[in-house]
Amino acid sequence: MRIVFLGPPGAGKGTQAETISKGKKIPHISSGNLLREAVETGTDTGMKAKYYIEKGLLVPDQIVVDIIKDRIVKKDCKTGYILDGFPRTLSQAKVLDETLKNLGDKLDLVFYFSVSEESVVLRLSGRRLCGICGTNYHVEFVPSSKDGICDKCGGKLNQRADDKPETVLERLRVYHEQTEDLITYYKKKSILKQISSDAGIEAITKEVSDIINCTLQKKPLISRGVV
Ligand code: AP5
Repeated sequence: MRIVFLGPPGAGKGTQAETISKGKKIPHISSGNLLREAVETGTDTGMKAKYYIEKGLLVPDQIVVDIIKDRIVKKDCKTGYILDGFPRTLSQAKVLDETLKNLGDKLDLVFYFSVSEESVVLRLSGRRLCGICGTNYHVEFVPSSKDGICDKCGGKLNQRADDKPETVLERLRVYHEQTEDLITYYKKKSILKQISSDAGIEAITKEVSDIINCTLQKKPLISRGVV
C-alpha cells in the first residue's frame, strides 16, 4: 500500500509514520529525514538543502524529487511505503503521479493531519530528538524517563535547529502558501482522509490503522474525519 502523510509541521506525521510503518511492515520514507541525513554527511545535495532547511523554506523541487525517486524503487518498497512530508508542492505531486504511473503503481491513500497552530507551536517547541538513534520525544507529551537522555540508547536529546519559534512560524507560512493546495488535489482524486491531529497519539494511530485496514479489505469505513 502506497500512502502519503500530509499536514503542517508538527502535525504528528513522523510520530504516526514510525508506528504505522512498523505495524504494516512497510518503510517510513521521510523527506525531511533524508535531507537531514544528506546535510549531516555533507553531500552536495545536503550542502544545497541546508540553506533552505535552516530558513524554514522548501528545498527546491528537483533536489527532493530526485531523492524520493531513488528511494521508492528500492527493494523494500515493493509492497508499499509511507511518504512522510513528500509531496509538498503541486509540482512534486504531479511528478510522483507520473513516476508511479511509469512503475505501474498508484497512491492508495493520502492522510491529511489537521492540527491547530497552537498545538504546532507547543509540539515543536517541546520536541527533542536523540542525537544517536533519532527517537522522537516531547518534553511534556512524550517525555524520556531521564531528562535529556534517550530511553532506548542513552544518547543525548537535542532540539532540531528549525524548531526555533521564528523558523516554526516561517515553516507554517510556507506550508499555507505552497502545500495546502495538495488537500484539494488529493480530495479530487478521492483518496484523501482527514484526521484530526489534536487528539492523543494512540487514538490517532488507531484511526489511521482502521482506515488502512478497511482500504486493504475494500470495506466501507464509518468514522469521523473521513472525507
Ligand atoms: P520535515 O522534517 O518533513 O518537517 P515538517 O513537515 O515540518 O514536519 P515535522 O517533522 O516538524 O513534524 P511532524 O508532523 O513529523 O511531527 P512529529 O511527529 O515530529 O521537513 C523539514 C524541512 O525539510 C522543511 O522545512 C524543508 O526545508 C525540507 N523538506 C522536507 N520535505 C520537503 C519537501 N517534500 N519539499 C521541499 N522541502 C522539504 O511531532 C512533533 C512533536 O509533537 C513531537 O515531539 C511529538 O512527540 C509530538 N506529538 C506528535 N503527535 C502528538 C499528539 N497527537 N499529541 C501530542 N504530542 C504529539
